[in-house]
Amino acid sequence: MNSDFTQTLPSFMKQCEQRANDLLRRQIVAHAPSVRLREAMEHAALGGGKRLRPVLVYGSALAVGGTLDAADAAASAVELIHNYSLVHDDLPAMDDDDLRRGRPTVHKAFDEATAILVGDALQSLAFRVLSEPSTIAPATQLRMVQILSEAAGELGMVGGQSLDFDAMGKLLSLEALETLHKLKTGALIRASVALGGLSHAGTTAVQLQALDNYALNVGLAFQVRDDILDVTSDTATLGKPQGSDRKSNKPTYVSLLGVDAAKDKATELAETAIAALADFPPEADHLRELASYIVSRLH
Ligand code: IPE
Ligand code: IPE
Ligand code: MG
Ligand code: MG
Ligand code: MG
Repeated sequence: MNSDFTQTLPSFMKQCEQRANDLLRRQIVAHAPSVRLREAMEHAALGGGKRLRPVLVYGSALAVGGTLDAADAAASAVELIHNYSLVHDDLPAMDDDDLRRGRPTVHKAFDEATAILVGDALQSLAFRVLSEPSTIAPATQLRMVQILSEAAGELGMVGGQSLDFDAMGKLLSLEALETLHKLKTGALIRASVALGGLSHAGTTAVQLQALDNYALNVGLAFQVRDDILDVTSDTATLGKPQGSDRKSNKPTYVSLLGVDAAKDKATELAETAIAALADFPPEADHLRELASYIVSRLH
């Protein structure tokens, strides 16, 4: 089915999820010769998840007049990096969580060494997928690889995870917490939106800047939401242990502001994200609605 921007957000999200699942299934089977490693990679990458980052890649591609086909490699690559980050995030040395997406975490279902290797392998696979020959111009592909590697590494997600680890048991300023959240979660969300935009050859620098403003705000809103749900939701709904942040004494938007002010902050960020897309046509509606969806049902 070809996608268009007139379908509802839930139906678009379902389509993106299926597309991402199909891509990941093919890529992992094709690239992992060790049976144990392959099974653990499948456990990590094929066991559910909202596939929000692929939705952002595809939504961004449509917003600039691009196609889902051209955005496939980027959608898969960002989800691979995300899944690797979750496997490592759950390790005993990090958040020490036993449940992810309603199932045992990789180090529980397999073992810690395998979980470390799964993360390593998913990260490598992401860059392999993104750099495979495609219809995208090689110079653009190279730029996409650079953007994703910067977002994933010490200037992005890994840097944020390090700040998160250092912050355990400390009282951070709101500004410091925002920096931490922008890196650990926001960087990959920004990369997702940038890569979607770049998957279409005609995207202008002005469009990319507006998309980046959108992504900055959505990325932060998404981590504020995650912090709120850690307090207000339950383990069965989350599919991961509720109260994990409090257990490890992590500063969060909720611990600094309280639940109600954190909800207001998330709503405000979503509104700012939508405003960043003011000059985009109705093709950007999935991105607009997604920003609202992320902060919905929090109030
Ligand atoms: C969880 O991400 C970790 C954060 C960065 C907040 P998601 O909430 O997107 O997790 P899945 O992929 O749906 O499981
Ligand atoms: C995760 O943040 C960010 C990553 C880079 C994985 P969290 O530690 O809050 O994510 P969850 O709550 O375990 O999914
Ligand atoms: Mg964590
Ligand atoms: Mg965690
Ligand atoms: Mg969390």
